[in-house]
Amino acid sequence: MTSTPWPNHGGDAAALLKRFGLPADHPFEDVSANLNPLGPPPWVADWLAERIGELSRYPEPSYHAARQAIAEHEGVAPEQVLLTNGGAEAIFLAAAHHAHQCGLIVTPTFGEYARACAAHRLTVTEYVLEAPRFEVQPAALNVRAAKADVVFLCRPNNPTGTLIPAAEIERLLSCMPTTATLVVDEAFIDLAIDAEPLTPLLARYPQLMLLRSMTKFYTLPGLRLGYVLASAEHIAALARHQPPWSVNHLAAELVAPLLADVVFAQRTRQWLASEQPRMGQALAAMGLEVVPSHSCFFLVRPGAELCQRGISSVLLLERLLYTGMLARHTYSFSGLNGSWLRLAVRDGSANDRLLKVLHDCVC
Ligand SMILES: Cc1ncc(COP(=O)(O)O)c(C=O)c1O
Repeated sequence: MTSTPWPNHGGDAAALLKRFGLPADHPFEDVSANLNPLGPPPWVADWLAERIGELSRYPEPSYHAARQAIAEHEGVAPEQVLLTNGGAEAIFLAAAHHAHQCGLIVTPTFGEYARACAAHRLTVTEYVLEAPRFEVQPAALNVRAAKADVVFLCRPNNPTGTLIPAAEIERLLSCMPTTATLVVDEAFIDLAIDAEPLTPLLARYPQLMLLRSMTKFYTLPGLRLGYVLASAEHIAALARHQPPWSVNHLAAELVAPLLADVVFAQRTRQWLASEQPRMGQALAAMGLEVVPSHSCFFLVRPGAELCQRGISSVLLLERLLYTGMLARHTYSFSGLNGSWLRLAVRDGSANDRLLKVLHDCVC
């Protein structure tokens, strides 16, 4: 292993291979990316090919059709929807709207909240969830949130998979001044188990902003598609920070047919309901400590018995990579310092391969 720095993004396989002294063409399966293994829906490639000629025109600037489709899907008004260039743009717009104010980030979590806050000069404090369960202590969080202009939290949380119940979110909202904002990043909400929707809270709490991604569920991270649900006032304010034509024409046109594909959504729910608990149990049975996850990934570390045998998360990461499995290191998640690994739930046979390799690594 060299002293090459840990890459900031999980998908930066080249940097990780270099760090472990492996050749750039070392073959591996990616078990780090939290994407729906069933996607993209099979019709998307032909749909894009048929409409490629439309790239010679500008997108319709208000994205009326896409916003209408999302509004119907979510049960809100079109004025409560902003189409964004992935969930990532939504995070940066929320930070821009609170530039130079005080932000609170519930960590360990997705690093882009901190980056967005830094870019827009927010003064940030962290509310740190404690290992090994990474659960919110509502009273403590509510006190901290009451002092912030904007709170960022992720539900289900990346990388822990933990999910704050809707009732806790409502209690948190009722502690926050009406001038403050609660940004709940729900990038993985369509890939979550037992998640009550927060959309009904939008009508009662103007402080609430829900950020969504369409790249995880539909396996289209290269296309860039996401949206914000919030009060009409918040949406208008965010839109003022958004560059023109931020979402490309084909991505915007794809929104309605994606949301209409109920067969794909149903297949995804069936896969998640069977593979997610199976993986959680199998990982724990191997002696790994597994954070209780509601989503399509697990945060794990070697349990006490494996630690006694000198097996650390970094050693496991290294062994996995040598055997051809790229797991997600956690050096870039504030507070985790690399002591955990994140593993994605994939389709049945891919999960079996990971379990077999992991088993060989810890035995
Ligand atoms: C929690 C979370 N939010 C948002 C995003 C950004 O997703 P998108 O591809 O929609 O920009 C990610 C991507 O990994 C994520 O993990």
